[in-house]
Amino acid sequence: MKRIAVLTSGGDAPGLNACIRAVVRAGHYYNLEVIGVKRGFKGLIEKEFINLSPRDVSQIINRGGTVLLSAREERFHQYQYRKIAAQNLRDEKIDALFVIGGNGSFQGAYLLVKEFGIPVIGIPKTIDNDTYGTEYTIGFDTAVNNAVQAIDKIRDTSMSHERVFVIEVMGRKSGFIALSAGIATGADVTLIPEYPFPMHVIVDSILQARKRGKHFSIVIVAEGVASGKDIAQILSEKLKPYDFGGVRYSVLGYIQRGGSPTAYDRIIASRFGVFAVEQFVKGKENIMVALENGKVVEKPLEVSFGKIKKPDLSDFELNNILTL
Ligand code: F6P
Repeated sequence: MKRIAVLTSGGDAPGLNACIRAVVRAGHYYNLEVIGVKRGFKGLIEKEFINLSPRDVSQIINRGGTVLLSAREERFHQYQYRKIAAQNLRDEKIDALFVIGGNGSFQGAYLLVKEFGIPVIGIPKTIDNDTYGTEYTIGFDTAVNNAVQAIDKIRDTSMSHERVFVIEVMGRKSGFIALSAGIATGADVTLIPEYPFPMHVIVDSILQARKRGKHFSIVIVAEGVASGKDIAQILSEKLKPYDFGGVRYSVLGYIQRGGSPTAYDRIIASRFGVFAVEQFVKGKENIMVALENGKVVEKPLEVSFGKIKKPDLSDFELNNILTL
C-alpha cells in the first residue's frame, strides 16, 4: 500500500481543514495510507507524524485554522535540516508529500524534490491570493468576506459622524484582499501596491465626494502600501482646512484570517484536495494544483516561483468608475 503525507505550512487560512479532510478521504478512497505531519516543515524535521483515518477528519470541514497546526520554519532554509526532513520521510516510507501552502512553502518543498528526490504535490492556500500560476488560493474568499463584514460595521460610524475612515487590510505585498473588499463595500478609495495613486488624488477624491453630497469616506489601504495609521495621519493634515468629522483608522488584522470558511472555500479546498490525490494516483509528481479559467488543473511546481501575480487592472478601474 502506498503512503502519502500531508502538511499545512505558513499562515493559516480558512479552508485548510476542508482540504486536509479531502486529501485524507480521497487517499483512503484510492487505497492509500495517509500520514499527517504536524506543524508544517518543523514537524518534518522533528518527526511529528500521525496516522490519519477518514474518521480523524470528521467535523472539521466547517472549522477555521488547521488541525495539523502550522509554522513558518526558518531552519528549512538550511540544507542540513532539509536533509533530516528527507531522511524522516524515507524512514516513514512516504511515497509523496502533499504541501498545502503558499509560494514560500512551495519553494521549500521544491528543494526536497531537487536535492533528495522526494516527490511533492503542492496545493495553494493563502488569504492573500498572491500565488502565481493559480487564479485562486484557499482562504481568500473567507478573508474578503471577513473584511467586508468588518468594513460594513465601520461604515456605520463613518456615516454617523461624517468621518473619513482609513481601513488597513492584509495581503502582504499584494492588493487582492483590498481590491475585492473595496469593490464589495463601495469604498471611495482603494490603495493597492500594484497600481499606486499619488496622495493628492486621494485627497481630491475625498473632496469631490463631499462636493457631490457624500459626507463620509471609506479609504481601504492594503498593508503592502503603507500602514493605515500613516495614511490617516497624512489625510488628517491635508484635510485640516475643511470642516470634516475627522479622520480615524482601523487595522482589521487577524480577524481576516480566522473563522469558519465560506462555502466557496470549502468547495474549492475539497476539489483541490481530491484532485491532488488523483494526480498522485495517476503517477504525477512535483506538480501544483491550480485554478485556471475556473477549472482545476495541474502545473509544474516551479511555475509559482519568482513571478508576481497582479490583480486585474479592469477590477481596479471598475472600482474607480463606481465611486463617481
Ligand atoms: O500571508 C498571510 C498573512 O496573513 C499576510 O496577509 C500577512 O502579511 C502575514 O500573513 C502575517 O504573518 P504572520 O502570521 O507571520 O504575522
